[in-house]
Amino acid sequence: MAQYDVIIIGGGPGGYNAAIRAGQLGLKVACVEKRATLGGTCLNVGCMPSKALLHASELYAAANTEFSKLGIEVTPRLNLPQMMAQKAESVSALTKGIEFLFKKNKADWIRGAGKIAGTGKVEVTAEDGTVTVLEAKNIVIATGSEPAGLPGVVVDQDRIVDSTGALTLPEVPGHLVVIGAGIIGLELGSVWRRLGAKVTVVEFLDRITPGMDAEVAKTFQRVLTKQGIAFKLGSKVTGAKTTKKGVSLTCEPVAGGAAETIDADYVLLAIGRKPYTEGLGLENVGIETDKRGFIPTDHFKTSAPGVWATGDVILGPMLAHKAEEDAVACIELIAGKYAHVDYNLVPSVVYTAPEVAWVGKTEEQLKEEGRAYKTGKFPFSANSRAKINHETDGFVKVLADAATDEVLGVHMIGPQAGEMIGEYCVAMTFRAASEDIARVCHPHPTRSEALRQAAMGVEGWTMQA
Ligand code: FAD
Ligand code: NAI
Repeated sequence: MAQYDVIIIGGGPGGYNAAIRAGQLGLKVACVEKRATLGGTCLNVGCMPSKALLHASELYAAANTEFSKLGIEVTPRLNLPQMMAQKAESVSALTKGIEFLFKKNKADWIRGAGKIAGTGKVEVTAEDGTVTVLEAKNIVIATGSEPAGLPGVVVDQDRIVDSTGALTLPEVPGHLVVIGAGIIGLELGSVWRRLGAKVTVVEFLDRITPGMDAEVAKTFQRVLTKQGIAFKLGSKVTGAKTTKKGVSLTCEPVAGGAAETIDADYVLLAIGRKPYTEGLGLENVGIETDKRGFIPTDHFKTSAPGVWATGDVILGPMLAHKAEEDAVACIELIAGKYAHVDYNLVPSVVYTAPEVAWVGKTEEQLKEEGRAYKTGKFPFSANSRAKINHETDGFVKVLADAATDEVLGVHMIGPQAGEMIGEYCVAMTFRAASEDIARVCHPHPTRSEALRQAAMGVEGWTMQA
């Protein structure tokens, strides 16, 4: 029977980063993954393929609508099979990259479905049905999450799809209805809108992207509406039926009122994700999930001795970089080191055009906490690089403590916001004051000057506006 220091179940960001870190620290480690490739949701059917399509479709839309303004006359023609093929190639290169890193760091990949069979025991069932039992001092659960379902809407991955199906539609839908104005709905809705689909987003709440600063969300909705995405807010989907021509969806106002039928060619169900622990054998070590299916942890330790958990299967933002932080910290704790993750400083990015990015507290959270804060704001319409590039939608907002000036939250909407938020992640990790940022020389002309100008705005000495 193979003996390991650590066995990780799940080869996504919460698992593969743990395996690599364990290898680096000299631990004997194996990662059990049932998918044919490593990388989990993120690399196979999440972050990476969605970003490949967002990038390609953004260029296609720019060629259609923006290039001529710059004096470039082209008539783009969509080659969807090629767009899908380049996405698949990139994904394959990335998943093979993880395999390479496993070999380099002496982490074993055990292919098959892992089940905790008892303390220190993992049973692995290979695709051919062969069962192997492995032993380990520590087991890390990193089994991730799966799309949440909605009664009355059966995902068949043909006409009614979840995010996985929406990444591989065989044609541009005439009409795509997205259920859920969250990150998946708006990213993938944007992809298909840019490629020519009519897109309608049906959202239960009276706003889009809950969790995002409300002022930013309002601007975001306005920009997406300008791009042709239609929103039906405060609307409850009651059912979806596939017909000969597509899908017939019924919804009604949450506040009450007449029901409505919407005809669609495809429906994307994107109302959130839920932890995935099916067939994991949690009962064999006495672990109970919470009401929503998450595994309760304290510094990644579950209630069972020697069993740890990371990533989407535990509480916290369901993001790849959060799963990575969990993974590294968990292994460092197992190795007897000090480790810490500041969940307040996990950034969020929506990779639409423009992008939305934020870190720290929203204005709504600060108000709820009763914390006194000052605000600095700077619009991209006053940023010289944005003006030159004709990309002036959006702004940067800095929220700082009224007494100490410590930066508490930063929210931005604009091109490359996702690349720029890192500056504030570093600054906030070092507990910077807004004045610290305001006095840092930034290169000119760049969008990053807007970050500085927004910080200057906290004390009211913005210069470029
Ligand atoms: P997962 O990546 O889900 O990996 C879990 C793995 O465990 C899976 O491969 C699964 O096959 C395996 N597994 C499960 N049970 C077993 C078992 N019993 N035995 C063996 N293997 C098992 N996050 C971002 O930060 N940025 C983004 O841009 C982004 N885009 C996304 C786009 C989409 C469409 C989706 C769906 C998600 C996106 N996410 C993004 C979220 C991100 O994918 C997840 O937060 C991240 O993958 C979580 O990592 P994880 O390791 O916890 O779980
Ligand atoms: P989400 O939680 O972001 O959004 C779900 C939306 O659906 C919410 O607006 C919610 O109010 C709405 N909703 C819930 N029930 C509904 C109903 N019955 N009818 C209509 N609307 C309903 O979830 P989403 O978009 O599925 O994404 C899941 C997670 O995946 C994200 O929370 C994020 O953690 C991760 N992700 C991250 C990305 C990134 O970092 N760029 C990209 C894609 C996904």
